[in-house]
Amino acid sequence: MVPSFPSECPFQIGFTPLTRFFVQMNGMTHELAVKEERFNEFGSIKDRVAWYVWSHSMNSADPKRAIIDASSGNYGYALARIGERLGIPVTIVSSPSISHFNADGIRSAGARLVIAEAQEGESSNGARMRVAGEIAEAEDSLFLDQYRSPLNPAAHQNWTAPELLSGGGIDACFVAASSGGTARGFADYISNSGSDTELVLVEPFGSCAFVEADKGMAGGLCIPGYGSGRSSTFSDMTTKPEVLRVCEADVLAAYTAFRESDFPALGLSSLGVVVGALEWLSHADTPKRVACVCADGDERYSDEFEERYLPKVDSDVYSKALERLTALLPLIQPVHEETLSAVAR
Ligand SMILES: Cc1ncc(COP(=O)(O)O)c(C=O)c1O
Repeated sequence: MVPSFPSECPFQIGFTPLTRFFVQMNGMTHELAVKEERFNEFGSIKDRVAWYVWSHSMNSADPKRAIIDASSGNYGYALARIGERLGIPVTIVSSPSISHFNADGIRSAGARLVIAEAQEGESSNGARMRVAGEIAEAEDSLFLDQYRSPLNPAAHQNWTAPELLSGGGIDACFVAASSGGTARGFADYISNSGSDTELVLVEPFGSCAFVEADKGMAGGLCIPGYGSGRSSTFSDMTTKPEVLRVCEADVLAAYTAFRESDFPALGLSSLGVVVGALEWLSHADTPKRVACVCADGDERYSDEFEERYLPKVDSDVYSKALERLTALLPLIQPVHEETLSAVAR
């Protein structure tokens, strides 16, 4: 079933390419498909959520009322661009960790960017939500509240997930745990549609979005939109999802290794998801077809890779991962067909 929602979207969001690779492992040939959300009009998977939440919230609101929301960056950038196109003022509350790319993009779209500092014992995600709520109340703007709104997972349940999975034939689907919108939307789609695809969440050891952080590892997260220091508002699911841990050093090593190859130029959380899928395939005992939901592209990280991200991870762990992933690269070969869409336009 092709979702009806995207046909109402006035921007080039959705129907992103699915780029396929063969992966040779343990004498088997697996297929790994990469859902390239970087090709959405504003460059990330959060374009879908921004438009979905915005359009569903505006129906019942004054159409000229200013919009405010909290974001780690990508969602805020998409909201700012939508506000620019529709002529509506937007305020984004983010954290000091926001990338230069997104901070500059939000401002150049004419939106206001507020940086929320976390208080003692507060996660950066919690600080953004708190400050956005306070400003919304003081200024009487419309707080979309993506981290609590059911419209956030609904965007994926009704749009991203059916676009990727409705054709069937995918054994496992990998997404970043992050703040939980994508994860919950995919989980709800899978359980409500009777899909037999297994959902696997990928996150670093210190993240606690859906299950507790590994012992003694809580916090210390540096990659935006990958793990979370706050239990997800959307984590209340009947079945606990499978969680696969991939440390941030491995993700940065993947960035360096894959940069030299023909692999798509993916962002950091996306590479975490791909490394998780490769790890999962290394334990498979029959050939599998897997899909990775890849949130954004490398342009959001490349200018800050050396000075912002690399110094935050253990250099020995990084070097060993780089060696391992470089050796893996020749085993990943493109499927020689033109890039396919999951569903026909
Ligand atoms: C880089 C990146 N990856 C993944 C995600 C997905 O996060 P979520 O599923 O919590 O919306 C985001 C969201 O901001 C992101 O910025």
